Amino acid sequence: MFIFKTHTELLEWLQLEKDHQHTIGFVPTMGALHSGHISLLKKALEQTDKTLVSIFVNPKQFNNPIDFEKYPITITEDIAFLESAGCHAVYIPNVQDIYPEGLPNIDLNLGILNEVLEGPKRPGHFDGVVQVVHRFFSIIQPNKVYLGLKDFQQCKVIEALTKTYFPNIHLEFCATERELTGLAKSSRNMRLSETGKATASYIYQALQHIAHNYKKEDLNSAKRAALHFLNQHHIEVEYLESANSDTLALTSNWEEPNHNIVLLAAYLENVRLIDNIQF
Ligand code: PAF
Repeated sequence: MFIFKTHTELLEWLQLEKDHQHTIGFVPTMGALHSGHISLLKKALEQTDKTLVSIFVNPKQFNNPIDFEKYPITITEDIAFLESAGCHAVYIPNVQDIYPEGLPNIDLNLGILNEVLEGPKRPGHFDGVVQVVHRFFSIIQPNKVYLGLKDFQQCKVIEALTKTYFPNIHLEFCATERELTGLAKSSRNMRLSETGKATASYIYQALQHIAHNYKKEDLNSAKRAALHFLNQHHIEVEYLESANSDTLALTSNWEEPNHNIVLLAAYLENVRLIDNIQF
C-alpha cells in the first residue's frame, strides 16, 4: 500500500493509474478507523480498480475546539487496518497541504441543509466539510466516492457540492454499520466506557420504536415516547427530529413510505453521538 503525505506525490500515482484507465474509488475519513470505514473500503474494492483512503482530521469542521483536541488519532493502527483490508493507497496530508495559503474559499449556498439539525447546532461545521471535500475532489478527481449514511446530513451536503462542482463524480451512500447491540459504529465510540457503550445502544432502540410505529400512532407521540425512553436511560438528547429524507425539511406528520427519516444527536459521557433511521 502506498502512503502519500503530499498531494504532489499522490498526483503522480493517480496520473499513472489514470493512464492505465484504472478507475479510482475514494473513501474520505478522519482516521480512527473501524469496521464501518472498512465496509466502505470493501465496496470501493469491489466497484473500482484502485482504492484511495484519506486520513485527515479537518480542523475547519470542528466548531468545538475540545472535540477537535479529543478526536482520537490512531494512525499506526489505521495504516495496518487498511493494508490488511487490501487498500491500494492512503493519503495522510498535513493542514498546509490541504489548505495552502491563497486557496480560495468555496462559497456554496446549502439552503435548508445548513438550517436544520446539525446546521444550527454546529455552526460552521458543514462549511468546513465543504472546504475539505472540495479540496479532496479537486486533487483526486475520483470516479466514485464512498460515504456512510450515519452522517446522513453530511451525505446530502456532499451531494449538493458534487452536483454543483463535480457532476462526473459518482457518490455511493452506504448503510450504517452497527454493533450487535444496534449502536452505530463511530470513531467517537472509542471515548465511551463499556457501560457507556451498552447505554448508547438504547439510541437505536428509540429510533426503531418510532419506525416500528409508522402510522400506528401519530408521529409526535412516537417521538415523545422515544425521548422519554432515552431520558430514562440518562441519554441527553440534543435533538430528535423527523424529516423528509429527500429534502431534509422537518416534519410533524408521517411522510409516504420510504421518505421518512428520524435523526438524533445526543450526549453520553460527554461524547456527542448521532444516528438516524430511514423508513
Ligand atoms: O465523515 C467524515 O469523516 C468527515 O466529515 C469527512 C467526510 C472525511 C470530511 O472531513
